[in-house]
Amino acid sequence: MERVILITGASSGIGKETAKLFQTKNWKVAATMRSPENSEDLSKIADVGCFRLDVTDPGTIKTAIAEVLEKFGAIDAVVNNAGYGLLGPFEAATQEQTERQFQTNVLGLFNVCREIIPYFRDQKGGTIVNISSLGGRVAFPFSSLYTSTKFAVEGFSESLQYELEPFNIRVKLIEPGPIKTDFYGRSQDVARREGLAVYDHRLEPFLEFMEKGGNDAPDGSVVAAAIYDAVTDGTRKLRYPVNTKGLLGLRGLLPDSLFFPLVKRIFLK
Ligand SMILES: NC(=O)c1ccc[n+]([C@@H]2O[C@H](COP(=O)([O-])OP(=O)(O)OC[C@H]3O[C@@H](n4cnc5c(N)ncnc54)[C@H](OP(=O)(O)O)[C@@H]3O)[C@@H](O)[C@H]2O)c1
Repeated sequence: MERVILITGASSGIGKETAKLFQTKNWKVAATMRSPENSEDLSKIADVGCFRLDVTDPGTIKTAIAEVLEKFGAIDAVVNNAGYGLLGPFEAATQEQTERQFQTNVLGLFNVCREIIPYFRDQKGGTIVNISSLGGRVAFPFSSLYTSTKFAVEGFSESLQYELEPFNIRVKLIEPGPIKTDFYGRSQDVARREGLAVYDHRLEPFLEFMEKGGNDAPDGSVVAAAIYDAVTDGTRKLRYPVNTKGLLGLRGLLPDSLFFPLVKRIFLK
């Protein structure tokens, strides 16, 4: 049976690897992105269609879904992958940076769910995969805004799975640790404010540590494999951690009094 997956933020990284993996598994792939004109390589692959979709612009979501249905006839799974990280001290982030982080990672994901849920209900089934993060379960320093978006995605998804269960709609959470993608480069935003140097001696080594962690990490194909599992394993399992480096296990085992010093030792050299 032919199945169709729609992926947001498929221009690079995890989204692009996911598009390629599902295509090799004989799925039809709607690779959605803000600028499909820059994605010639994906659009040349058989059974992959590139569609314009900006998660912060509900009109583009409606249009993309209609175009995908016209081209492929159905949608069986949606991967809410579009997102980026805003790092740095909370007080250095402008209102605009703060809003953009939530508009993309949280409200953007809600926008896509709002459009796809009625369609999945009518179809009597479907799978929603939300890309969270290790940072959706564990908070790291200088990540208060990014972390709070991913904690929001976790709570949203955990609640949603109860209400969508009667309609045969599965909700899945993917929780990647560091993955080598543009997340640590062009997609990253850093909050800095002139005259606010008091954080620099801790912030700069933290940013270097994060960059090195990203460079040394596995690529998006490991996350794509977890997404494939989540979509096809036939279970209602909610959470799929990937490359979390034992931190999730330790978070569950250790009291705050031992876990917080450990996080400081790792992230704040
Ligand atoms: N890499 C990691 O270590 C890591 C770890 C945990 C979680 N994650 C999560 O994984 C997801 C994918 O990130 P990635 O690592 O693959 O980084 P990436 O290569 O930078 O990909 C991010 C994607 O999101 C897209 N995007 C950003 N804003 C968008 C918007 N308003 N509408 C539609 N698309 C938008 C980008 O599109 P453009 O090309 O248009 O900019 C890009 O395709 C994110 O949700 C991220 O939080 C990543």
